[in-house]
Amino acid sequence: MQDKASEPTQKDLFAPWQLGAFRLRNRIGLAPMTRMSAEKDSIPRQDVLDFLVRRAENGVALITTEAIVSDYESAQGYPGQARLLTQRQINAWATVNERIRAAGSVSILQIFHCGRVAWPEVNPAQRTIAPSAIAPRQNNPLTQAPYPTPDAMSAYDIQHSIQGFVETVKGAMAAGFDGVEIHGAHGYLISQFLSSYSNRREDAYGGSLDQRFRYAREVVEVVRPWVPQDKLLLFRISNWGVVDMDVSLFADAEEWKALIAHIDALPIDAISVSTYRFSDEAFGSGMNMAQLTRTATKKPIFICGQIYDRDTAEAALADADMVLSGKSLLLNPHWVQDIQARKALRPYRSEEANIAYTKEPLP
Ligand SMILES: Cc1cc2nc3c(=O)[nH]c(=O)nc-3n(C[C@H](O)[C@H](O)[C@H](O)COP(=O)(O)O)c2cc1C
Repeated sequence: MQDKASEPTQKDLFAPWQLGAFRLRNRIGLAPMTRMSAEKDSIPRQDVLDFLVRRAENGVALITTEAIVSDYESAQGYPGQARLLTQRQINAWATVNERIRAAGSVSILQIFHCGRVAWPEVNPAQRTIAPSAIAPRQNNPLTQAPYPTPDAMSAYDIQHSIQGFVETVKGAMAAGFDGVEIHGAHGYLISQFLSSYSNRREDAYGGSLDQRFRYAREVVEVVRPWVPQDKLLLFRISNWGVVDMDVSLFADAEEWKALIAHIDALPIDAISVSTYRFSDEAFGSGMNMAQLTRTATKKPIFICGQIYDRDTAEAALADADMVLSGKSLLLNPHWVQDIQARKALRPYRSEEANIAYTKEPLP
């Protein structure tokens, strides 16, 4: 095991580097951000699509979309989410991808299934499913009502939901995305399988970490043949979820490292680690999340969480290969130029990001 924390960094935020088959122009990426803007045909509003293109035009090397729901059954968790399963949806995203590519950036589609973080009415099938029939403790912040207790997924539900990822990956490739990211973070379906907090199954998809990891492994292995080798397949992970946020989804540093070792063995190109604050100590290990993750993988690591100026970006990059910004890139279209110029910048508060869910076009 190497201790990356003590190694001097050779990486330059603004120098090109190679990720899979892609030469990225710098090490700065747009984090995935849900916008809930889609209307009846599950296509985001035009200004929301334009926002992604504008970040590419303003120097961001890698653009990740909002999380796209994987099927027309029970994947959706919020109103106004997008899908990528029909020709109209493919055509809308194809134009976006052409514009992102013309601006010199790489486009990644993030895909997820919300599992128990949903309410039945937003889904065509009018049901919520999860590894186990356990509702989150916290109320739904959008409805203020308790989340319903989900149906524990049957063997059929498991295979059917995996096919949703496959179909959406096919849509992503038809739309010309440069890659896809499987969203295994933030307490959504894949994360629900990974964590013993939400997975109490007694079959081959629950119990030991290896068995809880089985659903994630099957998703990645089943989609991989649909992602050509010259495209990117990424996996996002976190120790926190959007509901019951105070809960540590994994027990300790050892469990995290074992989890990362499982992810490392997947046929993926990079691991995206999502944290609340990149510099926080992970599990009392004396290391931050990227450093701890590095002890269990040599794959490229993306890191995210309150990276807001040149100093925080460079500090975060010391332990990772790419830095992602959510709120700073959401609210400041010139963020890349501003950190290049070492401008004094402030971190944005979570409430300021709520504008993402309104009809107000972002700068
Ligand atoms: C408005 C908003 C929507 C988000 N939606 C997603 C999402 O769809 N998928 C995801 O993986 N993370 C999502 N996130 C989390 C961000 O990708 C990122 O991990 C988080 O904001 C921390 O980075 P930051 O401090 O730079 O904002 C969202 C964050 C915000 C602010």
